[in-house]
Amino acid sequence: MASRPPRNASPSSRDQSAADTPRARSRLATALRTTTCGDLTAADVGQRVALTGWVGHRRDYGKLVFIDLRDRYGLTQVVVDPERSPESAAAHAVATEARLEYVLRVEGVVAKRLPGKENPHLKTGEIEVEAQHIEVLNAAKTTPFPIADHVTADESLRLKYRYLDLRRESIRGNVVLRHRAVKFIRDFLDERGFIEVETPILTKSTPEGARDYLVPSRLYPGEFYALPQAPQQFKQLLMVAGIDRYFQIARCFRDEDLRADRQPEFTQLDVEMSFIAEEDVMGLIEQLLIELISATTAKRIQQVPFPRISFAEAMAKYGIDRPDIRFELPLVELGELARLGTFGVFSSALDRGGVVKGLRVPGLATATRKELDELTELAKALGAKGLVTLALLPEGPKSPLTKYTTPEELGRIVAHLGGQTGDLLLFVADSAKVANDVLSRLRGRMGERLGLIDTDVLALCWVVDFPLLEVIEEAGKTRYHATHNPFSGMRPGEEPLLATDPLKVTARQYDIICNGYEIGGGSIRINVADLQHRVFELLGLSEEQIVEQFGHMLEAFGFGAPPHGGIALGIDRLVMLLAGAETIRDVIPFAKMQNGQDPMMGAPSPVTEEQLRELHLRTHMPEKPQA
Ligand code: AMO
Ligand code: AMP
Repeated sequence: MASRPPRNASPSSRDQSAADTPRARSRLATALRTTTCGDLTAADVGQRVALTGWVGHRRDYGKLVFIDLRDRYGLTQVVVDPERSPESAAAHAVATEARLEYVLRVEGVVAKRLPGKENPHLKTGEIEVEAQHIEVLNAAKTTPFPIADHVTADESLRLKYRYLDLRRESIRGNVVLRHRAVKFIRDFLDERGFIEVETPILTKSTPEGARDYLVPSRLYPGEFYALPQAPQQFKQLLMVAGIDRYFQIARCFRDEDLRADRQPEFTQLDVEMSFIAEEDVMGLIEQLLIELISATTAKRIQQVPFPRISFAEAMAKYGIDRPDIRFELPLVELGELARLGTFGVFSSALDRGGVVKGLRVPGLATATRKELDELTELAKALGAKGLVTLALLPEGPKSPLTKYTTPEELGRIVAHLGGQTGDLLLFVADSAKVANDVLSRLRGRMGERLGLIDTDVLALCWVVDFPLLEVIEEAGKTRYHATHNPFSGMRPGEEPLLATDPLKVTARQYDIICNGYEIGGGSIRINVADLQHRVFELLGLSEEQIVEQFGHMLEAFGFGAPPHGGIALGIDRLVMLLAGAETIRDVIPFAKMQNGQDPMMGAPSPVTEEQLRELHLRTHMPEKPQA
């Protein structure tokens, strides 16, 4: 490296102490620094500054040492030339010793970088700081993975050392984005008359469908608090209280099977309003999301107003109640056409009350045998008994179906799906549930395969008109179960159906979906004690259970509960989508692993005998603790 020509800092700037240099002293100045590593530009050349941060990178050219000093705000290049002055010789000795991630304080003068050495990708890319004094504030061991944008380290290692992971721009950026999003939401709702109310964490279980986390009571042996799965009952009680417009950034706890988009604790934007109908909540949330997205990301919203899709249409067309509508590829039911020909698999599915559903994949007729086998394996892994493939090749259709159908019959099936030469058609014959589960996943896979997914787009839609109840099987018996929650109201005029045909009752429920993720859901609630009581009965609760679990709600409804409703948005999922992150763990500062453990804190963990005794608990270990 050529030696650098000496530069003339103006005498005045050299004489000034760092503290009273107006331009370089930012509002983030502290006792140890005049500004941050993300601040200095060509306008600051000549200023004397003090910076603090971590050694992100160090290049040693023998005489000259370059250090990229990093903090939350950015990166500043520090250059240490031992021949500049007696102090800089001492600084050089320190710089030579400093290792990656050492914490340094650097004093020096801002200089323009040599021509050609500028970095246009960096806000500070035009300048460097010529160090006159360097102090090691703390040393650092070698980190278990590099503090770089792309790391290949295992996620468990990253979560064990999350404080190091958070030094990485991408993860830290997500945390900052999360803060911005939540602040935006608070301001938006505050401007519209909403007030944030904290509701208890130590409470009684709320029926949101998952298992509760329980907290044993020391003072009441054998009794437990539950951590809230959602503040559902409290927010409704706040409406009875006349609060009228409530929100909360609420931590929720659910002990359920974990998936990529679920955590045992997560955060909701919880909202409830009085004297409203669906439009009030949906309109508010739609406006909030539109403004939030434009304020925090460069992503485009696919369609405004957000399309509204009925539950029935979503299931028919996408096979799922949270459709990814960034691309089309609709599912098509064959109906009675499935009886054409002699293919037993199809006709017996119909005979058993099932369906035959198909998916047209444009242009994929040339898929290889291997690819088709993989699709079939995937379908089977998802629960299908098999997968019928039908390739519409120029020389004629290629499919197991040709053995069982005449060309004319096959032609009618192909036409029903809109098949064209070059397309691949896929069919599943099974119960509607299995066919939908499998084909909705294949649809997603094919959307990716065909490159139909635009990652710069957020495709939001509402799903509405859910049935209030569904039938579930429990311990060999079937019973009604609320599709969302037992407090959802029903479409006006449909109450009589509760007695005659409960499955036909439509809930006043609305879910909001983005790119195939359910980012929120809510409803207009029941506010009349009698009706709420009837729903509890339908759900199979005994009078005793109703009183024990929900007596307070029914009682409250008796004291003038206003018409009300609300919604909750999953903040983690929402921020994940805003950030374009791959999992919600990437936007949760201290996330748990997919298996529910926190490898950093070592939670969950055993407690002492003494603690257990105080809580009147004894552990009963399973045969073999799960890994
Ligand atoms: P729901 O159960 O649909 O509704 O929850 C609302 C939203 O919270 C998010 N969410 C989760 N995010 C991460 N990890 C989880 N384990 C998890 N579970 C849920 C989802 C979901 O859409 N009380 C009702 C709301 C209401 O009716 O007002 C409720 O909790 O994005
Ligand atoms: P064959 O080779 O004539 O026995 O045709 C069987 C084909 O039907 C295979 O490709 C199977 O994967 C497929 N198959 C079997 N059961 C089902 C089903 N329930 N739905 C769709 N395809 C199926």
